[in-house]
Amino acid sequence: MSNTFFQKDIVSVRDFDKQKFETIFQATDKIITMSPNERREIGRGKTLGYLFFEPSTRTRLSFEAAMASIGGTSIGIADASSSSARKGESLGDTVKIMSLYSDVVVLRHQLDGSSRFAAEVSEKPLINAGSGTEEHPTQAILDIYTIRKEKKRIDGLKVGIVGDLKYGRTVYSLLYALGNYKVDVRLISPPALKIRSDSTYEIRKRLAYTETTDLEENISDLDVVYITRIQKERFADIEEYVKVKGSYRIGTDLVKKMKDDAIIMHPLPRLDEISPDLDSTKQAKYFQQAQYGKDTRAALLALILNENGI
Ligand code: NCD
Repeated sequence: MSNTFFQKDIVSVRDFDKQKFETIFQATDKIITMSPNERREIGRGKTLGYLFFEPSTRTRLSFEAAMASIGGTSIGIADASSSSARKGESLGDTVKIMSLYSDVVVLRHQLDGSSRFAAEVSEKPLINAGSGTEEHPTQAILDIYTIRKEKKRIDGLKVGIVGDLKYGRTVYSLLYALGNYKVDVRLISPPALKIRSDSTYEIRKRLAYTETTDLEENISDLDVVYITRIQKERFADIEEYVKVKGSYRIGTDLVKKMKDDAIIMHPLPRLDEISPDLDSTKQAKYFQQAQYGKDTRAALLALILNENGI
């Protein structure tokens, strides 16, 4: 029987159940233990094609590194302003062409709905690497994997999600993902950056959460503090950004209030949400999280490209 990811698109975490997460996590655990030579057999002769219409560091590089680690190659456009999109080529045509040259397509685009549309046009499986303010599913995969590895469980944890909950797409994918587990979620944001009302129905169906503005008051209860960047580029009015800029900062004072075994996560890039002084503390897991991004993406690619999984 073929694995459920074989030749499938990854557009939204809403399409995932717990079993799907477990399949990727087991594949990740396995891939980590494989020798470089064994790993390189998994994707030998395969090509990943990426199209990034928005800036990226970790997502694009970790996909490339993941593909290289399983013996495949990557081609792509890291800056869409250098592609024929600039001459007016449609997203549909750009995706279609990339899908003719590659075995799996990775897309980041500023519009909500871009990935769903691209998946319909693409001749090959399409992975959403960030679609507008909507979702970033592979980030949620690595986020849940990080919690599982670093806390040894997911059920029963108190998870605080902090910062720009309105525009942060990683937040939506993470919330849909956490909906598969028994977690107590606290959403911490300025009133203007609460999760969007058009998504609360979908999120409430999956999980119970409470909302607050105060990080300091809540931090001592939390097992996981997932802090995010205020998404300046998504504000319609820059004055509104200025009002909420720098709302939350974790420094050594706040870490002292945290549980001894609590962890701090961040999808990165950070601005001033986390003081660099914390980077060497045991609570800081954001770089480890980025490292898991490569491993989980390698596992996902392996499952999409190989009928029998790994
Ligand atoms: C995030 C994104 O692009 O949504 N970056 C990432 O992939 N880790 C987060 C962000 O830009 O703030």
